[in-house]
Amino acid sequence: KKGEAWSARFSEPVSDLVKRYTASVFFDKRMAKADIEGSLAHAEMLAAQGIIPAADLEAIRKGMAQIAAEIDAGQFEWLLDLEDVHLNIEKRLTELAGDAGKRLHTGRSRNDQVATDIRLYVRSAIDDITGLLAQLRTALLDLAERHADTILPGFTHMQVAQPITFGHHMLAYVEMFGRDAERMADCRKRVNRLPLGAAALAGTTFPIDRLRVAQTLGFDDVCHNSLDAVSDRDFAIEFTAAASLIMTHVSRMSEELVIWMSPRVGFIDIADRFCTGSSIMPQKKNPDVPELARGKTGRVYGHLMGLLTLMKGQPLAYNKDNQEDKEPLFDTVDTVVDTLRIFADMAGGITVKPEAMRAAALQGYATATDLADYLVKKGLPFRDAHEAVAHAVRTCVDAGCDLADLSLEQLRQFSPLIGDDVFAVLTLEGSVAARDHVGGTAPNQVRAAIARIRSQLAM
Ligand code: ARG
Repeated sequence: KKGEAWSARFSEPVSDLVKRYTASVFFDKRMAKADIEGSLAHAEMLAAQGIIPAADLEAIRKGMAQIAAEIDAGQFEWLLDLEDVHLNIEKRLTELAGDAGKRLHTGRSRNDQVATDIRLYVRSAIDDITGLLAQLRTALLDLAERHADTILPGFTHMQVAQPITFGHHMLAYVEMFGRDAERMADCRKRVNRLPLGAAALAGTTFPIDRLRVAQTLGFDDVCHNSLDAVSDRDFAIEFTAAASLIMTHVSRMSEELVIWMSPRVGFIDIADRFCTGSSIMPQKKNPDVPELARGKTGRVYGHLMGLLTLMKGQPLAYNKDNQEDKEPLFDTVDTVVDTLRIFADMAGGITVKPEAMRAAALQGYATATDLADYLVKKGLPFRDAHEAVAHAVRTCVDAGCDLADLSLEQLRQFSPLIGDDVFAVLTLEGSVAARDHVGGTAPNQVRAAIARIRSQLAM
């Protein structure tokens, strides 16, 4: 005989297919720890309020300790018949604690219970991800520091634009992942509110103390409307949106790593342990990790769209649709956690090839803007300076040489303001060093930024 919590109401059992279709235990059992934690806080409050006897609380605590041990040991028997993690644990508790187990659900519904469990789960995921973002940023800072002076071409439209330092380029990602951490912290504020006490949807007739439960579980506050408490999943959507942006940043970085590692570019090498070979081409070493991360970004975006769509047509309050929030959430957490962990590790396995970067920066007239700025400083209006340098570049393109290859005589044909101090301006080092203000690519600015971010991370 099945043991559903609601079986007496029904005249026939659900079919096996429906049972499988409606059950969630095989994925929501990963919230078991949160479920037990929430139940213990609830039971403790029920006892403190005199709603259940103190002896029941003791029996519930003992039973839950055993259940937690059984789950840890892989000995807990999860039953499809019991639908979800909540009913599985409650049933086992009742086996172990008798009537005390049956009293646990007083003043509570699975609707507020599940909402509480997911919030606990997402909160701990946010904390993990925040830690991993800090690890990744630290690894990127180390890489930036080693290459504060290494020059490579900066690109716009994938065309050589101006020389930049590799450290500066890495710091761009440190900024992005820093905003991701801020977004996680902000999302956490809205995650960290307690739905429990909303019961099914309207609240409960028992004299509960919601603030006490909130405090026990480390929530900052309770959800202030019972209907909203059981049906809100915006916190999950918000989390997935923040996760999507993390993956956007990872994916952009991945794209650059893949390009940089291509032998046609050859700016970097990635340690063998992050790459794989080809089953047919013996020479291949492929940047699988960044490629896969770029690909996995799609699934996280998909989960965001899935969750948004899940919510849009639901009337208040709880609907079974909400059970569909878990798999996208869990997969988002797994994907982001694994990806960040690997990237934090891989950053240390990136070998930069300064000669290849330098050679590329010397092609494409990367210091043309510096020449224009030079003329402006000699008194020429910027638009005229731009035009004069455009003529010079045109001449170089035709002659197949660089601006610095022109003689002073040749350069002076484009503007008589040019003097022999121009050659310092046309060097890569001069170009980057001259961009010496907050946010600029100059090596000393890169070092200052690294120090500033390191001290923020230490706080
Ligand atoms: N497994 C359900 C979920 O994930 C738990 C809540 C079920 N509540 C209900 N009234 N059927 O949302």
